Order: sequence, then structure tokens, then C-alpha cells
Amino acid sequence: MAWDTFYRGTGEPHDTTLPDAPPWRVFPRSSAPRTFKPPKGLTDAVNAAVFLHRPLLITGAAGSGKSTVIEQVADELRLGPVLRWHITSRSTLPDALYRYDALGHIQSLRLAQSGAPVKDVDDIAAFLQLGPLGTALLPDTTRPRALLIDEIDKSDLDLPSDLLDVLERGVYEIPELVRHSRSRVSVRRWRGDGEDTTTELPPYEVQEGRVQCQRFPFIVMTSNGEREFPAPFLRRCIRYDMPRLSVELLREAVEAHVEQSLPPHAADLVQEFVERVARGETLAVDQLLNAVKLVIDDHGPTGEQRDRLIGYLLRNLSGA
Ligand SMILES: Nc1ncnc2c1ncn2[C@@H]1O[C@H](COP(=O)(O)OP(=O)(O)OP(=O)(O)O)[C@@H](O)[C@H]1O
Ligand SMILES: [Mg+2]
Repeated sequence: MAWDTFYRGTGEPHDTTLPDAPPWRVFPRSSAPRTFKPPKGLTDAVNAAVFLHRPLLITGAAGSGKSTVIEQVADELRLGPVLRWHITSRSTLPDALYRYDALGHIQSLRLAQSGAPVKDVDDIAAFLQLGPLGTALLPDTTRPRALLIDEIDKSDLDLPSDLLDVLERGVYEIPELVRHSRSRVSVRRWRGDGEDTTTELPPYEVQEGRVQCQRFPFIVMTSNGEREFPAPFLRRCIRYDMPRLSVELLREAVEAHVEQSLPPHAADLVQEFVERVARGETLAVDQLLNAVKLVIDDHGPTGEQRDRLIGYLLRNLSGA
């Protein structure tokens, strides 16, 4: 197996062994908790959030490790599978609390009226599912759940303020259940990272349509700093800005990913990466990981071909 035996661009099918994944591209992902190296001050910021029961707002450049922090914290503190809420401009607070498939429910009621055999017409539970935030606030766990609210700066302008109330009071209502004839309804939970999709999670029994959190979850919110947040939101968070990584820490992080100590030509890439970032270029840790993998792997390209590829992989993310 050599570099030129993969795709050749000839259009001729040929037998070839495809390369194994780098350890950090093996699915399901499991290596992040062990390979993450917290930059200076991060452990204190995490502990402050844990101690004060406040969300941690992490700001930093693309690829600076913001979304990975929670994986290590959840693993180390045994908080269970991380619940993820990935924010886009269309994300809303109700969506993160629970989802109700009203159309599906109406259809099933119509079927029942037409005489078709339907299990339980009144079974609203089948059409409800708690979202990541709704699940994180459930009171029936012994340890707080870990919740990642990723890229909150991409949200609609009102979302951070909408979140405030729920995070302050730790309570939410499901109006469809408040009005429902049954006072107790068992609702499906949101699955966390790596939670087995073949087995049913135990549903949560919501009473009178209201869920009251008992222990504040461990929440990380991430932001690329694309916008300012209102002061009332900021004052309720522990804030941490991802700093630039030192050569030593970055080298440790890369060595943990590639599971070996770096030969001199790979260590030079780390040094050069740090110098370029210090000069103001935007480069992400994953770009460095890609480049290092190419230079240390026996099956990687060599000579000029390798240098050209490294150049492509380590292109400045901003400007050019
Ligand atoms: N301090 C670090 N130690 C080890 N690995 C790191 C570190 N920082 C970043 N990485 C690695 O870099 C990659 C990108 O990290 P991640 O996706 O968490 O960045 P991000 O800040 O969330 O980026 P984006 O803003 O693009 O979402 C991951 O593979 C992560 O393991
Ligand atoms: Mg991220």
C-alpha cells in the first residue's frame, strides 16, 4: 500500500487496500477525551462553572478545541454521554426543550376515526420527544448531565435572552401536556453522544406538563466570537477565551493524537504552525494534525509531492 496506489485518475478500476483512519477519524469517536490538552486557565474556568453551577461560555477561533472541551470534562467527571444542541439561525428554545409532531398526531387521530386499528388514540407520548436541553434538565439523574450548546453565536438574536429564563429557573413546561387529560405522560429522551440507538432509553414521566431541574447540568456554550452577547446573558456565564497554544502544548496534543513522539520533521511543522499563528494567520489544530499524519505515515506521499500537499493543508483560513 503506497500513496500512488489509491486513486490514480486513470478511470481504470484496480484492486487496492485503502488506508486505515487516523486515530481521531475512527467512528464512533472516542479518542477526544484522552487527546485533548487544556490550555492555560481552562481547567480553572471549567471548575468555576462546575462549582458555581453556571454555564461556561468558550470563545475562540475555528479549530481551537472549543467543542472538544466538554468531551473531556464529561468523561473525566463521569457525566455520561454528552447531549448536543448545534445552533443555527433557525434554532429555537422550544425545539431544544421538546418536539411535538402535531401532524403525525393528527394523522393518527384521523386514522382512528376512520376505523383503522390504532393502538391508543390518546397516546400523545408517541409524538413527543424531549430535546437536548429538555433532557439535560431532567431531575432523575444522580450526576448532572453534560450539554453542549455549540456555536451559539450563529443563533437568531433573541435566542440567548430566551435561554436566560430557563437556565435561571431550571424549569420548563410542555403546553400540550399541561392541557392533556392525563396528568402523567412518559416522554422519550434525547440521545447523548454514542448512546446505543438500538435500545430504547427509559422514558421520563412528565407530571402536569412541567419539568423542574434539580441539579444544574454542566453546560458548555461555544462561540467563534461572530457577535456580541447581551450583558444580562454574559453575567450569568463563566467566560473563557481560548488562547493560542504554546509549542510545547501543541506538540503534546499532536503526539497524543498520532500516538507517537514526533520525529524532527514533524516537530518542525508544529514550530512553524505556532510561528505563523503568532504572525496573525488563522490556522486550526486539525490542519496541523492532517499535515503531521501525512509526513509521519509510511504510506504518505514523499518529496515534492508531500511538500505541495502540506502547503495545501496548512493554508491560512482567513483572507487568502
Ligand atoms: N488543546 C487541544 N488539545 C488537543 N486537541 C486539540 C486541542 N485544540 C484543538 N484540538 C483538536 O482540534 C480539532 C478541532 O477541535 P474542535 O472541533 O473542538 O474546535 P472548535 O474550536 O470547536 O472549532 P470550530 O469553531 O470550527 O467548531 C479536534 O480534533 C481537537 O481534538
Ligand atoms: Mg466547534
